[in-house]
Amino acid sequence: MKVLVTGATGFIGSHTVVELQHAGYDVVGIDNFENSTPNVIKQVEAITGKTFICEQADIRDKKSIHAVLQKHGGIQAVIHFAAYKAVGESVAEPLKYYGNNVAGTVNLLNELQEKDITDLVFSSSCTVYGNVSSDMLPVTEETPLMPAFSPYGNTKQICEEVLRDQSQTGKLRVVSLRYFNPIGAHDSARIGELPIGVPNNLVPFITQTAIGIRKQLTVFGNDYATPDGTCIRDYIHVVDLAKAHVAAIAFLQQRKSADSFSVFNIGTGKGNSVLEAIHSFEKVSGQKLNYTIGPRRAGDVEQIYASCSKAENELKWKAERDLDNCMLTAWNWEKKLAEQKQNA
Ligand code: UD1
Repeated sequence: MKVLVTGATGFIGSHTVVELQHAGYDVVGIDNFENSTPNVIKQVEAITGKTFICEQADIRDKKSIHAVLQKHGGIQAVIHFAAYKAVGESVAEPLKYYGNNVAGTVNLLNELQEKDITDLVFSSSCTVYGNVSSDMLPVTEETPLMPAFSPYGNTKQICEEVLRDQSQTGKLRVVSLRYFNPIGAHDSARIGELPIGVPNNLVPFITQTAIGIRKQLTVFGNDYATPDGTCIRDYIHVVDLAKAHVAAIAFLQQRKSADSFSVFNIGTGKGNSVLEAIHSFEKVSGQKLNYTIGPRRAGDVEQIYASCSKAENELKWKAERDLDNCMLTAWNWEKKLAEQKQNA
């Protein structure tokens, strides 16, 4: 079976291509390489030992999607990652986010409809739940959505609505995966997260501080109503997350007459604080991390973690790795990047 993957050389995309190839799927990737590099293609091939066809195409450019679908016949399902994801940037440049994440998705759907491609897995986010109160934890798929905190979050909510509406025409079946906090890297250290510029996210900031690229990590607030005062998140290993996509494709294939729009939380079901994440990193890396406590970051949710029983029951998927493994693989990846820089 042939699967089209958009954003195929990105952080989650590349790990998903590896798991799809391991599971025996044929993959055609597309990426515009704006937030990734073509070198990822070779790395994926080195891991799987298979050819990874990845075309340069942009979802904002209908013609380029059309050309890929013309060239590669027989695509039966799509996993749609391609999107921008920086919360702060989305506040400064909302049109960039609506143009790529929303208009790009609509372009893609038009092309899929033309080719009668009916199965799609969508990259959604726990950000759709907004600022949940602690009595609503863990969040289930039935937890009501709240107005989005940022244009980025809003694009995920809007895309889910677009996909739900399109699924009601009978021309599309959708699984929307609401990711919690994806971190970690492949065990081979050949692929991982490649932030451009100063990382916004916690784990790349931790590993870059430990390797000496950043001077110090600032913990954004320790006066939250949590056991150690720092925010709580549900950190999920990117390889576990990649496997959830393989499970979602199988789910769509097997359940032809099922609901045409399904959402699943994809996390571990366990919340960890920022300090717990730092301590886990220090334990597995043997490095003392230089960090300081700073003020709260605007827009941060105090705590959020998932109920994953729906994914467990229906997708037959469950996260297998723990926080220590996330930190260890993220650290190995950072060390590999440093090694490559030295040899360059
Ligand atoms: C958010 C979104 C997530 C989205 C992601 C994309 C929510 C709940 N989550 O994740 O859906 O995919 O952005 O970027 O809206 N922290 C520090 N110091 C740092 C960096 C982070 O203390 O230098 C803390 C944050 O305050 C937070 C935790 O680490 O408590 C995780 O932050 P981050 O990695 O940025 O992810 P989220 O903001 O949870």
